[in-house]
Amino acid sequence: MEQLDQASTLRRMANQMDRGSTAVLERDMEHEKQPSHETPQRTKVLTVTSGKGGVGKTTVSVNLAISLARAGKKVLLFDGDLGLANINVLLGIIPEHNIYEVLKGKKKLQDIIIRTSYGIDIIAGANGISQLANLSDSQRENFLEGLQSLMGYDIMLIDTGAGVGANVIGLVLPADEILVVTTPEPTAITDAYGMIKSVVSHGPGGKIKLIVNRVPDAGEAKMVADRLISISNQFLKARVENLGFIFEESSVQKSIRSQRPYVVLFPNAKSSACIKHIAARLINAPVEEDSAGIYQFFQKMMNFSFRGKDD
Ligand SMILES: Nc1ncnc2c1ncn2[C@@H]1O[C@H](COP(=O)(O)OP(=O)(O)O)[C@@H](O)[C@H]1O
Ligand SMILES: [Mg+2]
Repeated sequence: MEQLDQASTLRRMANQMDRGSTAVLERDMEHEKQPSHETPQRTKVLTVTSGKGGVGKTTVSVNLAISLARAGKKVLLFDGDLGLANINVLLGIIPEHNIYEVLKGKKKLQDIIIRTSYGIDIIAGANGISQLANLSDSQRENFLEGLQSLMGYDIMLIDTGAGVGANVIGLVLPADEILVVTTPEPTAITDAYGMIKSVVSHGPGGKIKLIVNRVPDAGEAKMVADRLISISNQFLKARVENLGFIFEESSVQKSIRSQRPYVVLFPNAKSSACIKHIAARLINAPVEEDSAGIYQFFQKMMNFSFRGKDD
């Protein structure tokens, strides 16, 4: 059943694609017909983003990825922040390679994946991401073909930079789910609204879900979420879901300083319980019919970047 689903997804993708990439896809579809012992599956792509910087995207991404892995999911955490790539810093890892070397043809995508002791794999400091918009046809094909080595993940979680620039929106829009992080600060709320507006105006994009970080109590989190959900609905006709909140806690900062995620260092802290709750909600969300995985994500992302250049 799942195999059939994937085959039809690939076929649908093939119809939507330009001629160059269709060749790669046709090969994949041939491959799809062969009996295989691997379980074919679609990777759900989740992007963590925000309007304002410094609201907690990277700490949320790292701790959420680990919580999803602990709940039994195979997770790839992808650092898509061009300016301040620092997933590796939060995990105390020094990456040897990044995606730039893949685009230059010096490394294969599977060679730059870092397996961590936290049960998640990461692609660190993706400084090459902006280059994805400038690839030649053959480089593009090579890159897309290399994505085959990323099959097998249940979830790819992407940490992005802040703001509504084309580089960020290109990574946000094609995701199955867009997790917008805000804090209760008025500026963060306003900028979160700006991000939602941008997604809607460039849309159609993935489902928008809200995380309110650094709250003193559950009541404040609810107030912030209700307000954002209601103005997004009223002025943008956007459906935004309240995914959950995380308390403002000194344990979060302590964990950052010791370069170990708080769900590991302080598993019993309230912030860890909050993240676990968010992970459970994500896992229990109904499966999207048209989630097409990593391949289509990057296809759309590159197409957006090309378009963005002419805007
Ligand atoms: N729940 C929290 N409680 C306390 N401090 C937090 C919390 N979440 C984030 N922070 C603080 O905010 C800073 C920025 O977080 P970070 O995840 O790097 O944000 P972003 O990726 O959005 O720029 C962290 O270094 C930390 O000091
Ligand atoms: Mg960050």
